[in-house]
Amino acid sequence: MVANFTLGFASHRTLFTVLWIVGFVSLFAWQRNLIDGFWAVRVDSEMEIPVLRPVVFNLTDFGGVGDGRTLNTAAFEKAVAAIAKLRGKGGGQLNVPAGEWLTGPFNVTSHMTLFLAENAVILAIQDEKYWPLMSPLPSYGYGREHHGPRYGSLIHGQHLKDVVITGHNGTIDGQGEVWWQKHRQRALNYTRGPLVQIMWSSDIHISNITLRNSPFWNIHPYDCKNITITYVTILAPIYGAPNTDGIDPDSCENVLIENCYISVGDDGIAIKSGWDQYGIAYGQPSTNIVMRNLVVQSNVSAGISIGSEMSGGVSNILVENVVVWNSRRGMRIKTAPGRGGYVQHITYRNLVFDNVRVGIIMKTDYNEHADDGYDRKAFPIIRNISFIGVHGRGVRVPVRLHGSDDIPLRNITFKDMSVGITYKKKHIFQCAYVQGRVIGDIFPAPCDNLDRYDEQGNLIKRSISQNITDVDYDF
Ligand SMILES: *[C@@H]1O[C@H](CO)[C@@H](O)[C@H](O)[C@H]1NC(C)=O
Ligand SMILES: *[C@@H]1O[C@H](CO)[C@@H](O)[C@H](O)[C@H]1NC(C)=O
Ligand SMILES: *[C@@H]1O[C@H](CO)[C@@H](O)[C@H](O)[C@H]1NC(C)=O
Ligand SMILES: *[C@@H]1O[C@H](CO)[C@@H](O)[C@H](O)[C@H]1NC(C)=O
Ligand SMILES: *[C@@H]1O[C@H](CO)[C@@H](O)[C@H](O)[C@H]1NC(C)=O
Ligand SMILES: *[C@@H]1O[C@H](CO)[C@@H](O)[C@H](O)[C@H]1NC(C)=O
Ligand SMILES: *[C@@H]1O[C@H](CO)[C@@H](O)[C@H](O)[C@H]1NC(C)=O
Ligand SMILES: *[C@@H]1O[C@H](CO)[C@@H](O)[C@H](O)[C@H]1NC(C)=O
Ligand SMILES: *[C@@H]1O[C@H](CO)[C@@H](O)[C@H](O)[C@H]1NC(C)=O
Ligand SMILES: *[C@@H]1O[C@H](CO)[C@@H](O)[C@H](O)[C@H]1NC(C)=O
Repeated sequence: MVANFTLGFASHRTLFTVLWIVGFVSLFAWQRNLIDGFWAVRVDSEMEIPVLRPVVFNLTDFGGVGDGRTLNTAAFEKAVAAIAKLRGKGGGQLNVPAGEWLTGPFNVTSHMTLFLAENAVILAIQDEKYWPLMSPLPSYGYGREHHGPRYGSLIHGQHLKDVVITGHNGTIDGQGEVWWQKHRQRALNYTRGPLVQIMWSSDIHISNITLRNSPFWNIHPYDCKNITITYVTILAPIYGAPNTDGIDPDSCENVLIENCYISVGDDGIAIKSGWDQYGIAYGQPSTNIVMRNLVVQSNVSAGISIGSEMSGGVSNILVENVVVWNSRRGMRIKTAPGRGGYVQHITYRNLVFDNVRVGIIMKTDYNEHADDGYDRKAFPIIRNISFIGVHGRGVRVPVRLHGSDDIPLRNITFKDMSVGITYKKKHIFQCAYVQGRVIGDIFPAPCDNLDRYDEQGNLIKRSISQNITDVDYDF
């Protein structure tokens, strides 16, 4: 018995090590490759910029100056206007050469490729008087941080089709420090703007760029369809950079996020679909979203979240091959009475947690509301969620499933889990109001709320205590 356990644990550890290596190394190999390529190429000449549209412009054609001081908003606007005229002809490409291109917010247009050359940096102007105000998002009914209007995003678009933002790992730098500071000092009257926000659009591709120090969320696709985000690096200080979420697909359909490295001051990724009565009325879910091959660090929040604004519903989500390291939480689902909507048909597969306080968490009392007008009886439905292949080490509380009488968690499945812990031995698989199952042996031992099946799927023991509560936030 003892020998068996030791053997089982040893092989889990081996598996964990292998998975960790596959996850981490493949992404860092990608980053390393480009870094090596970067040095090799720099010695010779500048990397040649591919021609991706029939007509190619250079920002300097429109008077752009990349000295880090000249304001380039007008140059970007003129370039975008020129590309807008090429709509019927396959659109246009705007190259941003190496240099520091200070700008205020500007819009992109349909059939446009924005190409950030190696060492090109688009710098967001810090003075808020250059940031236009926009009406609140309809599914939030509220600026999000303040009533009334909100600041627009640095790069913005509405009702567009076929927009590409790519490059040779050029950077969009939000210079967010000033915004974070003003936010902390309550010196702002409106909600901060994201770096890239595309609304009511389709066919959006973001790849091979770096975003850093956004004033607020980094990439915010809102009510969009057909989005791919790949080979993107998103960076912000892991502490003191409030709300710098990496990618927040919000009421979006058909989204693929892969091969990204995200280390930010809030959630790495947060799937959303509107807030309370406003989100319920807007009624646009987030659905068909795949997130894979990601390395994420989130010291204050979670690697990947769903919610807490999920009132339009969230379904058909696959999270696969994700490493979360040095983080507060790994995978998180958060909601509250008043949200309505649902979170359902979610699969998490092949996750690695390395030094994470809470691995998997579902929280149903995240009581942050836009205003008092929410329906207290609008209880979200949380069901059909599977975790298959969860490995890790240094995880204090591997699982905390905090359902309630009003918002029970249904049909939650765990299979193939081995999470090494470095802290307590009790209360490490916490449950309340959970119905679901464990297939085969897992480590740590699951709570009694769950039914037990063997590897072949035969019922071993049915739970008689789905609603007992063992949730302890003290660690
Ligand atoms: C892109 O630039 C970021 C920021 O400098 C860097 O961390 C990352 O490794 C680079 N990515 C690649 C693929 O070179
Ligand atoms: C853009 O124009 C500048 C100045 O004319 C030139 O130095 C640079 O090589 C051009 N870059 C591209 C990508 O065309
Ligand atoms: C940018 O787009 C927004 C939304 O469509 C619009 O309200 C605004 O006037 C545009 N700004 C410019 C400078 O074209
Ligand atoms: C906010 O509003 C107050 C009062 O109207 C004003 O004094 C202050 O300058 C405003 N701050 C910003 C950042 O707009
Ligand atoms: C983006 O990065 C990937 C991985 O390094 C590379 O295969 C691809 O060619 C890059 N795309 C561009 C446009 O440079
Ligand atoms: C999204 O992509 C699918 C599959 O390629 C296509 O059938 C659909 O028309 C696209 N939708 C939009 C709104 O572009
Ligand atoms: C988060 O940051 C704080 C402050 O820098 C640090 O003490 C803590 O160890 C960090 N947590 C993790 C999980 O890295
Ligand atoms: C449960 O969710 C999975 C995806 O995670 C989906 O394939 C399956 O059809 C769902 N089951 C039901 C009954 O909807
Ligand atoms: C319950 O979860 C299992 C495993 O994901 C899934 O196959 C099944 O369809 C789910 N049933 C319902 C009714 O959601
Ligand atoms: C647990 O609570 C749920 C929701 O409150 C209820 O539907 C269910 O019957 C309860 N189960 C047991 C075994 O008491």
